[in-house]
Amino acid sequence: TGHTTLDYGFVNTASTKSRITYIDGDQGILRYRGYPIEQLAANSTYLEVAWLLIHGELPTADELAEFDERVRRHTLLHEDLKHFFSALPHTAHPMSVLSSALSALSTYYENGQDPKDPEQVEMTTIRLLAKLPVIAAYAHKKSQGQAFLYPDNSLSFVDNFLRLNFGNLAEQYEVNPVLSQALERLLILHEDHEQNASTSTVRLVGSTGANLYASISAGINALSGPLHGGANEAVLEMLGRIQESGEGVARFVERVKNKEDGVKLMGFGHRVYKNYDPRAKIVKESATAVLDSLGIEDPLLDLAQELEQIALEDDYFKERRLYPNVDFYTGVIYKAMGFPTRMFTVLFAIGRLPGWIAHWREMNQDPQTKIGRPHQLYIGEGEREFPQR
Ligand code: CMC
Repeated sequence: TGHTTLDYGFVNTASTKSRITYIDGDQGILRYRGYPIEQLAANSTYLEVAWLLIHGELPTADELAEFDERVRRHTLLHEDLKHFFSALPHTAHPMSVLSSALSALSTYYENGQDPKDPEQVEMTTIRLLAKLPVIAAYAHKKSQGQAFLYPDNSLSFVDNFLRLNFGNLAEQYEVNPVLSQALERLLILHEDHEQNASTSTVRLVGSTGANLYASISAGINALSGPLHGGANEAVLEMLGRIQESGEGVARFVERVKNKEDGVKLMGFGHRVYKNYDPRAKIVKESATAVLDSLGIEDPLLDLAQELEQIALEDDYFKERRLYPNVDFYTGVIYKAMGFPTRMFTVLFAIGRLPGWIAHWREMNQDPQTKIGRPHQLYIGEGEREFPQR
């Protein structure tokens, strides 16, 4: 309308209308398509929630069975794409591998990427849901110097993924229901979170007419930063450093409050939640349950609990309404499952994939969508003459 408002970090600007996810940050409420996150996490599966996010309603039993079956049928990667992994160093960060491999994946399906063709969009949705976890597991195997396994499509989505990560060619993989259930729950908790940085990235890239692979690949890169999905990795590194240094939790919290070297309490604070993150509550319960049932005692869990308690009682955190977010306890669980720290954000990406797809599709179906193109307030030089030479 010719009037420009300056809004760093889009703190006050809505970029779209959406029907997918509702958050009340003051009350700590999160709902996907109207269903409370607590009920979905307790009763549903990753694929069922993916369907719900994408299509707006829970699937019927037949719809879910068919969807599950289609995803299973598309887990194989083209053999040529496997060479892609050989071109990268084994030290490559799996998030970089994931976003690059996804861009590369698009080259295999160049005739199936029209954002306006519903059948092609559906096919790409299935391919992404099926193949992203396989790519992620191969990035993990590559970093360990181990052989890639073929997906076993007799297994559930989550067990297939766990086997691809932790199985080997020599022995039969044994499903561990504790791990399966915990991972399923964590993935559900991550599936959507309205207009967060990575989802907004997916929408912005998609608003140019770019295909779903390109948009999701950009979303993965946005997620990689430590202020966003990278926080789950950063939390575990922080806990490890506190433990190694022996400085004690109270001293560390003092350093955070004094903003010494810009050190932050990772896994705390949120742009939207000014109350306990409802996801963090569920993750915290899971952390204790999973470690107990696996018989693991991890001093880092005790450290995290101590850190949380001290922070929640401290005026600095109270005044700023900083509470644990979803990333605070997830790392402890992923570690107990056997994932290396650098895989944590990759697990977040697999979780968030359905949300990214749902938003990209919602945007493409909305007749009001325009190419995303923010304004700026120019504060540079006025016109000047190029010097005569
Ligand atoms: N530790 C210490 N101080 C903090 C923290 C923290 N984790 N988070 C915010 N603050 C302070 C911040 O310094 C500021 O203080 P002051 O008013 O004195 O300058 C005040 O609280 C307000 O914070 P802000 O940076 O203006 O808040 P924001 O909405 O721009 O940032 C955030 C939100 C999540 C980026 C931030 O809280 C943060 O950096 N947290 C740590 C990283 C993290 O855990 N990220 C994961 C977010 S949840 C899921 C996800 O996206 O992955």
